[in-house]
Amino acid sequence: MALKFDYLAKDPHSEARRGRIHTAHGIIETPVFMPVGTFGSVRTLDHTELEDIGVQIILGNTYHLYLRPGPEILKDLGGYHKLISWNKPILTDSGGFQIFSLPHQRVISEKGVTFKSYIDQSYKRLTPESDIAFQEVIGSDIMMVLDVCVPSTSSYDVCVEAMNRTHRWAKRCKQAKTREENSLFGIVQGAIFENLRTESAEALTSLNFDGYAIGGLAVGESDEERDHFTRFSAKLLPENKPRYLMGVGTPHDLVRSVLAGVDMFDCIIPTNHARQGVAYTFAGKVKLRRVFHAREDKPIDESCACYVCKRFSRAYLHQLTKCEEPTGWKLISYHNTWFYERLMEKVRETIVDGTFSTFAKNFLENAEE
Ligand code: GUN
Ligand code: ZN
Repeated sequence: MALKFDYLAKDPHSEARRGRIHTAHGIIETPVFMPVGTFGSVRTLDHTELEDIGVQIILGNTYHLYLRPGPEILKDLGGYHKLISWNKPILTDSGGFQIFSLPHQRVISEKGVTFKSYIDQSYKRLTPESDIAFQEVIGSDIMMVLDVCVPSTSSYDVCVEAMNRTHRWAKRCKQAKTREENSLFGIVQGAIFENLRTESAEALTSLNFDGYAIGGLAVGESDEERDHFTRFSAKLLPENKPRYLMGVGTPHDLVRSVLAGVDMFDCIIPTNHARQGVAYTFAGKVKLRRVFHAREDKPIDESCACYVCKRFSRAYLHQLTKCEEPTGWKLISYHNTWFYERLMEKVRETIVDGTFSTFAKNFLENAEE
């Protein structure tokens, strides 16, 4: 049985869709934003907070978990859900992206990739087969194929080579998969060439994955190119399977990509930007390091129902951020993750009631990016 995806509604004025993914650890309402928990936690937030916020699924990373705690310990402990005590769905990236961003510490061949551990400098190896075997040990609800992601500025020949290897590895990943409950997504590559994106979508859909990711974006192209290739790639993918845009993005990126027909997102922005004192709201960004916030005795967002906005002022968050207090990072991370969840809730509601394109237009025009 393949991963079940219910296609519930379509926005009459755009490509936006409302759906529902069924996994062994519960249901995911889409469009969905997935916070990133690289090392087993979403930075500064514990799982009870994530549950309060309404987070439906978190991301894990094969590359980091392979190095620590590693396959033996994870296997003995009964998998990643159990280790981290999180009973909702988990999606794992294959590690391809992380390994390929280490240009001097990896060797890639047709068989797989060898890379240097940042923990003890020893050499480690992942092949499409061992990558899937490890994602099954993790117990990931949604596994990703091991792909080859190259910078958008690479030459055409380099992009063709990377794309073709991605297709060969995708096939090997599919063959290596042994468990029904761990579903597997293919990743469309092809950089910023329309013919390659088309070829990649065709090659991957012919392998019949449970869902499809759009990869190879936010790696050096312009914002306009990213938007164009998101839209272009989403159109090439089957209607009845989830579509996942990897590593994107800002609230504006999310709204624009939902308009293009994307269902799933992950990004470190809500927690990473929080560290710099950047908070997100329906009215746009609030940069809490700015000097005038030092005297502002009002919350980040008066209309936000999160506990941070109910209790703490911008002046206090400014103070904590300027003093680099971890509590400031944490409070803003909480608010930002709360905001991303409420934004996606609003997106889901308005797709169903037919007002999403109006909401999106207002948001994109009025919220400061
Ligand atoms: N995260 C962001 N982009 C990518 C990509 O192209 N491939 C993988 N595996 N992960 C990503
Ligand atoms: Zn808030």
